[in-house]
Amino acid sequence: MGRDAKDGRQGGLVTDEWGGYWTEVKLQVLKKYLAAFNLASRRAGDTVYLDLFAGAVTHNRPDTGHAYAGSSALAMRTTPAFSRLVFWELEGPAEQLRRDLEDTFPGDKRYTVVGGDCNDHLDRGLEFVRSLRWAPTFAFIDPKGLDVAWQTLERLATWRRDARGRKVELWILMPEPALSRVLGLQGVRGQSSASMLTRLYGCDDWVAIHQRRQRNEFTPEQTRAEFVNLLRWRLTSVLGYRTTHPLQLGNVHNQPVYTMVFATDVDAGESIMRDVYSHAKVHEIPTLRSHAVGVRKAKQDRERGIGRLFDPGGPAVAPEPYVYVEPWEPPSRLAGPVELDAEPGPDTQTDVEDL
Ligand SMILES: C[S@@+](CC[C@H](N)C(=O)[O-])C[C@H]1O[C@@H](n2cnc3c(N)ncnc32)[C@H](O)[C@@H]1O
Repeated sequence: MGRDAKDGRQGGLVTDEWGGYWTEVKLQVLKKYLAAFNLASRRAGDTVYLDLFAGAVTHNRPDTGHAYAGSSALAMRTTPAFSRLVFWELEGPAEQLRRDLEDTFPGDKRYTVVGGDCNDHLDRGLEFVRSLRWAPTFAFIDPKGLDVAWQTLERLATWRRDARGRKVELWILMPEPALSRVLGLQGVRGQSSASMLTRLYGCDDWVAIHQRRQRNEFTPEQTRAEFVNLLRWRLTSVLGYRTTHPLQLGNVHNQPVYTMVFATDVDAGESIMRDVYSHAKVHEIPTLRSHAVGVRKAKQDRERGIGRLFDPGGPAVAPEPYVYVEPWEPPSRLAGPVELDAEPGPDTQTDVEDL
């Protein structure tokens, strides 16, 4: 991750974790959902927040120069408040996160930071909330690439001890650029990408999608949709979640950047996230995309020496309704050998900013 240490406005590290306007959409959706989750869970008395790829307390938005709160800070500030919170981060950034949380929330004992790969150290963090295994729990899984292992999702899905069998709610980011990086034009690139996908899905069912892409039966768009669907399908059919909701976010050109997949078996969670997604499609996404297009245009104009007396804002972006689609049965594997493309080289990195 490109960490750019600067003097944070709250005294800590400010990172350049900003991907694009969709990062802001993601955080706004998270903020809204967490408040509604805790409000809806008030009768339970306690709630738990798990953040497996916690990042930094504050991020910097390079296009506007503004700092904004990361998921950890949003969760800590949620009202009504979470009883306990666990943040996982890689060693190094975890140290910084610990220091910044201490500075930003002095004396707050509700949380712990676990340093290291969340897939390997999940249980260390879960220990901190063992006494609240019964409580409504929300897990945010926000990797940059395909870094989460199915085993981790499985462990989370079986963690809660609730009399009614309700599970930890999951909100998982499926990064489209990382998918296109591993998929390439022909299909999956190399054994390392194949292993990553098998680790993510917990099986090699993705091969059937790859085979159809290689035979040109699936367009790149269908391929992406099938990969997201496979995750949703397995969350319901294998882990037993009742409902999953996908929210696809696009860049300024509306090219897919990532899909946020929400999984729950709680009616209230389902209806709240449906509302939050619907609102995002009609309000946050068009407004923030329009603003991002405006900021980009102004920057291009400045670079070309075209001055502006006032900020004209961005062009109007048409809102789209959120339409729920049931996950469908994934394709089955075709006969014949599975051919992998060459391993991706460093030049195959896709920068989402340029998409
Ligand atoms: C997209 S950023 C998270 C942003 C944060 N959730 C937010 O919204 O403010 C992903 C973070 O995951 C961390 N990370 C990457 N691999 C990890 C792993 N295996 N376990 C824990 N953290 C990891 C990276 O250091 C990075 O800070």
